[in-house]
Amino acid sequence: MKLPVYLYGHPVLRKISEPVPADYPDLKKLVADMFETMYASDGVGLAAPQVGLNINMVVIDADPVADTFPECKGRKLVIINPELEILDGEKVQRGEGCLSLPGISEDVKRVEHIRLKWQDEDFNEHTEEISGFLARIVQHELDHLSGTLYIDHISPLRKQFIRGKLHNIIEGKTRCDYPAKYAPRKRK
Ligand code: NI
Repeated sequence: MKLPVYLYGHPVLRKISEPVPADYPDLKKLVADMFETMYASDGVGLAAPQVGLNINMVVIDADPVADTFPECKGRKLVIINPELEILDGEKVQRGEGCLSLPGISEDVKRVEHIRLKWQDEDFNEHTEEISGFLARIVQHELDHLSGTLYIDHISPLRKQFIRGKLHNIIEGKTRCDYPAKYAPRKRK
């Protein structure tokens, strides 16, 4: 089942997410729904807050970008209760987008070498050193779990440039070709 993607301006995207307990109800169904939602909107990653749930869970399928970034080949991950460690502080700048920010793409500086510890949908523990664009996707998605969006990392000047677009998303004026949930209307 496709889920609506919560868009910029919705408060759920700014909350700190909670750990996922092993008895979380219908977790497998949620995982399947998140993948379906992500594929339907041509994303390579989706975090639970983007479907309105403040829990520490992310899905990634980076295979569609494997032609450009070979480290992404066949990488499909369910990441629950992650812990991230930066292995090399050198940052690289690349373009990013986000399903919660339709029509916007901006360069973001991020580190390219991380160690990730996480649980899969069966709560098996994993630890892996991850590099390159896959490390970027992981950092982008994990940011969502602490209420951070990639536009928080761009310069004030760039933010000024996209101010109009951000305003349009908040106001519900941005067309989105996937089911979306706009911010609640503020009373004037
Ligand atoms: Ni995102």
